Amino acid sequence: MKIVIPGGTGQVGGVLRRALVARGDEVTVLSRRPERLEPGVRHVVWDGRTPGAWVAELDGADAVINLAGRSVSCRYTDANLRQMMSSRIDSTRAVGEAIASVGRTGRAPRVWLQMSTATIYADARSRGDDRSHDEATGIIGGEEPGVPLYWEYSVRIARRWEQAQAAADTPHTRRVALRAAMVMTPDKGGVFDYLSWMARLGLGGAVAGGEQYVSWIHGDDFVRAVCFLLERDDLGGPVNLAAPEPVPQRDLMRSLRRAWKRPVGLPATRFMAEIGALVLRTDTELLLKSRRVTPGRLIGAGFRFDYPAWDAAAADLVARHAHSRSGSGSSPRPSATSSARSTR
Ligand SMILES: NC(=O)c1ccc[n+]([C@@H]2O[C@H](COP(=O)([O-])OP(=O)(O)OC[C@H]3O[C@@H](n4cnc5c(N)ncnc54)[C@H](OP(=O)(O)O)[C@@H]3O)[C@@H](O)[C@H]2O)c1
Repeated sequence: MKIVIPGGTGQVGGVLRRALVARGDEVTVLSRRPERLEPGVRHVVWDGRTPGAWVAELDGADAVINLAGRSVSCRYTDANLRQMMSSRIDSTRAVGEAIASVGRTGRAPRVWLQMSTATIYADARSRGDDRSHDEATGIIGGEEPGVPLYWEYSVRIARRWEQAQAAADTPHTRRVALRAAMVMTPDKGGVFDYLSWMARLGLGGAVAGGEQYVSWIHGDDFVRAVCFLLERDDLGGPVNLAAPEPVPQRDLMRSLRRAWKRPVGLPATRFMAEIGALVLRTDTELLLKSRRVTPGRLIGAGFRFDYPAWDAAAADLVARHAHSRSGSGSSPRPSATSSARSTR
């Protein structure tokens, strides 16, 4: 396939483009800075907002996977929140307009996978029943009582992001919104790397009691689910990309500590977590909001997870993390071909 990945220079883009190239796809990454990527990956500059020479990359492409957006691992200041919103809305609109214009003059991509987030769902705990959310019965967030106001804004970003894709005039292009949970890969700077750093320092204990749920997906399953969705012409609309077994935060860290052979993990109160987030220039929403999201549509369509449970996923990721840091060459890559197995 010929696949274009706007915003493909980040953590998720890295995992995806390497796997797609490995399975023989022709991959072009769009980003705002000229960058040399792996052999076999073309790089084209765009500004993430306006049409330009990059639009021609979509003409005759089979698929677009738009990942662009300002990093959410930052302080949730008004300015950062606004940039998190505008970078996602502007880039999604630009992709939609580009597909519409090549659709009028050339051949529009058959499928558009648009990144979204599992954060769109409510923190059900604040409603007294920490139920799980699938696509059919899930509660969209934003009106939870007793949660910080700016949590509502994170949900608003997700809703507006999906609305920007839905509003695009692309009648010949199947559209899927990827409601992804935290993508766990051994890559430096990713969420798994950060959690591992905490666990190895002995700081990986329960945060604010640790009952809040964490939804996650192993990088391999993320890649396989994306490949599955590229091929399944019968699937459109929002799809949860999350492992079937979300876990309470305290259990997530206990399993991770076990995998790192670090039995001790200092717990943190909400106040200590706020201080920690301040020092690390990130935000506690990522740790404190309960995200209990399940992959109803993927499982309904016959997709099978290689890593449905966190214990095995954590053990595998720790082995790869250690492997990739030991300089004995990079960690084994998830192969995109394994998605074929799920369609049987
Ligand atoms: N990582 C996860 O676990 C996870 C889970 C759910 C959803 N997501 C979403 O998936 C997407 C990719 O995640 P990631 O972890 O790979 O993020 P990342 O490492 O922060 O990469 C984001 C990409 O977006 C581009 N970008 C950043 N700011 C931008 C702006 N203002 N305008 C246009 N493009 C901008 C960057 O490209 P250039 O700077 O090269 O242009 C970069 O390639 C993000 O939208 C993220 O919210 C990620």
